[in-house]
Amino acid sequence: MNRRQKAKTGENDVALVPDGAAINGVTVLNSLWSATWARPAFPFLAGDLLCDILIIGAGLTGVNLAYLLKKAGANVVVIDGGEVGEGITSGTTGKITVQHGLFYDRLTKEAGSEQARQYLAANDAGKERYLSIIEEESIACDLEKAPAYLYSFDDAAAIAAEARACESLGLPVSFLKEMPLPLPVAAAVKMEEQYAFHPLRYLAAIAKGLPIYTGTRAIAIEGRTVKTNRGQIKADQIVLACHYPFINTPGYYFMRMYQSRSYLLAFANGPQIGGMYIDAREDGLSFRNWRNLLVMAGEDHHSGDNQKGGRYAALRREMAALYPQAQEVYHWSNQDCVPLDRRPYIGPFSPKLPGVFIATGYNKWGITNSMAAALILSDLLAGRPNPWADVFSPQRHPEIWPLLRHGFTSAGGFSRSYLYMPPYEARLLPPGHGGVVSYRGKKFGVYRDEEGNFFPVSARCPHLGCQLEWNPDEKSWDCPCHGSRFDHLGRLLNHPAQTDLRHEP
Ligand code: FES
Repeated sequence: MNRRQKAKTGENDVALVPDGAAINGVTVLNSLWSATWARPAFPFLAGDLLCDILIIGAGLTGVNLAYLLKKAGANVVVIDGGEVGEGITSGTTGKITVQHGLFYDRLTKEAGSEQARQYLAANDAGKERYLSIIEEESIACDLEKAPAYLYSFDDAAAIAAEARACESLGLPVSFLKEMPLPLPVAAAVKMEEQYAFHPLRYLAAIAKGLPIYTGTRAIAIEGRTVKTNRGQIKADQIVLACHYPFINTPGYYFMRMYQSRSYLLAFANGPQIGGMYIDAREDGLSFRNWRNLLVMAGEDHHSGDNQKGGRYAALRREMAALYPQAQEVYHWSNQDCVPLDRRPYIGPFSPKLPGVFIATGYNKWGITNSMAAALILSDLLAGRPNPWADVFSPQRHPEIWPLLRHGFTSAGGFSRSYLYMPPYEARLLPPGHGGVVSYRGKKFGVYRDEEGNFFPVSARCPHLGCQLEWNPDEKSWDCPCHGSRFDHLGRLLNHPAQTDLRHEP
C-alpha cells in the first residue's frame, strides 16, 4: 500500500485544515459562514502563563464568556487548539431563537414547570444579551428579526402540546394549520420576535482585543494547571468550553451524551421565505434565509452511523422538489452534543475537580445556550448564585433507561472492534471510497482516492477504542461511540479523541 505524507504542524498539534482546500482529492468544505468572514488572527501561546480564569475553547461559549468577564474586569485568558470559530460555531444555522423544537412540553413533563421556566429564562436572557451586545458594539453581523415556525407533517397533537407548554411558561405563540412555506403541514407553532445572524461575523467582532491564544491545545488538567502543546497555564478557575470535554474522568460526560451530525446547504435563486422553519422530527428539515440565499439543514443522524451515505443527495432532492430553480452554492456539515435528557451541562465539572467548570451538550440549540452558559458561568465563577443554574446542573442524574440504551449503542461500537470481520479487502474498494479492511490478520481503515492511492490508518478510535466507520458523504472516519471524527489521512476533526489516528501498516 502506498502512503501519503501526513501534513502536521508539530508533534502534538491537531492539524489545521484550511477552508475549502482540496487535500489528496478530498475537499474540505467551507460553511456559508466560514466562506464569508475574515478570520481574526491570534498568536500561539509562547511559554508558561498565569491568569485568574482560563477558558478552553474559542467558539461562541468561550468568547462570549471571555467578553463578559473582561467587561467585568476579570483577568481571563482563552486558548483553542485550532482557530477562533473554527469548530461548531462555523457550522450552525445561526438562529438566535428560544424555539427549541418539541422541548418545552417534554421538559415540563419530565422535570416540572420550574425547571422549564429556568431553561426558557436563561435562553431568553441569552437572546436579549446578543441583541444588546450587537447594538452596543455596533456589530455588522446581518442581525435580522424573523418569526420561528415549528411544524409537523403528521403530528398536530405534538405541536398543540408544545404550543400549550409555551403558553403556560408565559411564552406567546400561535397555533397554525398552515404556514408561509409551501409544505403540506398538519400543524405549526409560530413564535414572534426571534432573530438570525451571521455567527462568525458576530464572533470576530467580540473576539477583538481579547487575550486569545490559538493553535494552543489543552492536553491535561492537573490541579489548577492546564498543560498545553505550547506551555503550561496556571489559573484559579478553568472553564471547558470546547464542545466536548477532553477529559474522560471524573465527570464521565462521554456516558451522558452522544453526538449528532447534520448536513446543511445554501442555495441561490431561492425565495425569501419570511421566517425560520424547523420540522419537529429530529431528522427533519429546517430553513432560513441569509441575505439572498436560502439555507437548508437536515438528515441528522447519530455520529458514526452513516455507512450508506446519501445525506447531501437527499437534501438536494428535497430542495429540487420545493424550489426547482434553486442553485446550490455551499454545502457543509456540523456536529452537536446531545445529552440523554436533552438539557445542557453548565456548571461545576465534578465535585472531584474543584475550580473546573463545563459548558456542553447544547443539543441543536447552541446559539442561545452558549450565551446562557456565559451568563450563568459569569455568576458562578464570581461566587454569585444564578437563578437558572439548577436546570443545567452537571451534577443532576439523568433517567437510567436512556443511559442504558446509549450504553448499548456504544457497546455495539466497542464490540465491533473485536468481533466484526469486514467482507472485502482494500483492493476491492472503488476509487473515492473508504472501508475497514483486513490485512495480514489485522484491521485497518483504508481510503482509496480517485487515482488509486491507498491511505491506511488505524481503524481503532484513540478515545476509548471503538471501531471507526467510514462516512462516504464527508470522506471521514467517524466513531459510533462518542462521535470523534478524523479525515481520510487520520487527522482529528472532532473530539473527544485527542490525537490523530495512527498510520498503518
Ligand atoms: Fe469514544 Fe471513539 S469517541 S471511543
